[in-house]
This record gives sequence, structure tokens and C-alpha cells, in this order.
Amino acid sequence: MIEPGADREKIILTGAPETMLATLYGRALDSRSPHPILHDRAADDAVRRIDYDFARTGMTATSGAGVALRARQLDRWTAQFLAAHPHATVLHLACGLDTRVQRLDLPPSVRWVDVDHPEVIAVRDRLLPAPAGDYRTVGASVTDDGWLDDVPADRPTVAVFEGLTMYLRKQDGRRLVERITGRFPTGQLLFDCYGSLGIRLQRFVPAVRNSGATLHWAIDDPRELESWHDGLECLDALRSVDMPGVEELPRSGRASMWVLARLPGFRDVGRILRYRF
Ligand SMILES: C[S@@+](CC[C@H](N)C(=O)[O-])C[C@H]1O[C@@H](n2cnc3c(N)ncnc32)[C@H](O)[C@@H]1O
Repeated sequence: MIEPGADREKIILTGAPETMLATLYGRALDSRSPHPILHDRAADDAVRRIDYDFARTGMTATSGAGVALRARQLDRWTAQFLAAHPHATVLHLACGLDTRVQRLDLPPSVRWVDVDHPEVIAVRDRLLPAPAGDYRTVGASVTDDGWLDDVPADRPTVAVFEGLTMYLRKQDGRRLVERITGRFPTGQLLFDCYGSLGIRLQRFVPAVRNSGATLHWAIDDPRELESWHDGLECLDALRSVDMPGVEELPRSGRASMWVLARLPGFRDVGRILRYRF
């Protein structure tokens, strides 16, 4: 919900919807740093228009750089897909206030659909200008049946979902994967996930703890999903601790990643995944 204020919009959200303010703030902090990874100035503009106690997110320059690194990798994979399929449909699920559609240099032929809970889309529609072209927002839970039926199934489709899977229960995540892969002729799924240890440690993530959200679904074996649809294939499973560009993190981030990458269990705490179908 947004309450119009004199200069800034007061946002009152709880649970998973509130956590989108943490990732937005992370990208804003990155854009303010001397060596930005993502250069998402629109995120910073949005933050400056929002009346919210961003200290609740617990985001720091280092964790913000980590968010930016993950977003950049998903941007790159999305751009690669669109270079090969300029007439594609993009399903950007759990979009929050992510400015991916603005960050990518989209061919005008792309159809882009931003989906999130209705209360998040209401905020998005107020705060972020809609880009030109074949673009729309949809306010729905991705686990609802209706919204996907309204997306024409005529094109190769890339579904990008960042910061979503952990909020879903496994059976809902599986159903989502099955519905997308079963509906479109061909495409890719690009998303991040937590491993079991990440789910067990959720109370140590300030944005999760302070919003009252609960994380459920852990993916420990990315190959498990391949059995959910004939022809679904895992192309990449990048550990967060050794993602491309990890050397661009601030010194404290590089040190943490170095340590985590050497601790069994911790090295699989998060991944970024790319599948084709
Ligand atoms: C950590 S935020 C990530 C937002 C955005 N992807 C980003 O990176 O800034 C989690 C997002 O998942 C959304 N979300 C969680 N469960 C959802 C569901 N069942 N349907 C739609 N959106 C959902 C929340 O509303 C929130 O916007």
C-alpha cells in the first residue's frame, strides 16, 4: 500500500512483498558505490521517492553488491536469450521494484510481463514508469492458475525469477515450472535458489526476519528439476560464492565468499540456475 506524502510515498508491506524493498535498496546502494556492479540508477531514484525505514532491510554496501552481482548475471542470461529470440516473451516473475526491463536494451519485438502480488504491482505501477512497447504488469500470485492463461503461448519464452523460489513451497514451485514448460513451445528458466542450509539459516537474514516472511523451498540438486518436464535441461548451476564477477565485490565480500566457498555445506547455500526446455 502507498500513502501519498508531500515528497515521498509511504509504503506499508509485510511478509514476502516487503522483502522487495531490501533487494531494491541493495541495488541502490550498489549504484551509489564508487565502483558499481549493476549501475542501476533507477533503483536509487525509486529509493529516494519511498518513505520507508530501509535500515530494516539490514542491507549493507557489501550485501548490496552481492544482490547486484546476482541481478547482473540474470540480466546477461536474459539478454543472451533475447539476442537469439528477439520475438520472445519474457515472464519476469516476482518482479518487485526491479528495473530489469529498463536495464536491458530490449528489441521492440519483445513481449514483457512483470508479475508480482497485487499490492506490489500497485506500488510498482505508481513508482516506476512503464516502458514503451509490448509491456504489462500483472498483479497475481504466481501460484494462481489464471494469469498464465492470459499470456499467449505463441513464442519462445524466458521466465526470470529472482528472489522467488525460496518463498514458495516445493509443490507450488514444481507446479509453476510444470505450467511454464508445458505451455510454451521452447524457452529458458533463469532463477536463483537457496540450498537447505540457506533455508535453515533464514532467521539470520534481516530482510526475512524483519518482514515476518518465511522461506520454504530448498534446491540442493538442480538436476532434480529435469525430471519435472520432458526435455527440461539444467545448463548452468552457478554457486553464489563463485559467481562471475565475485572479485568485484568489496574486500569484506570477497573475504566472506572465499571462506564460504571452502566450508562444506556453506558453499552450496545459494545458486543461480539456467535451464532450457
Ligand atoms: C526478495 S523480493 C525480490 C523482488 C525482485 N525480484 C528483486 O530482485 O528485487 C521477493 C519478491 O517475491 C514476491 N513473491 C513472493 N511470493 C510470490 C508469489 N507467490 N507470487 C508473486 N510474487 C511473489 C514478493 O512479493 C517480492 O516482490
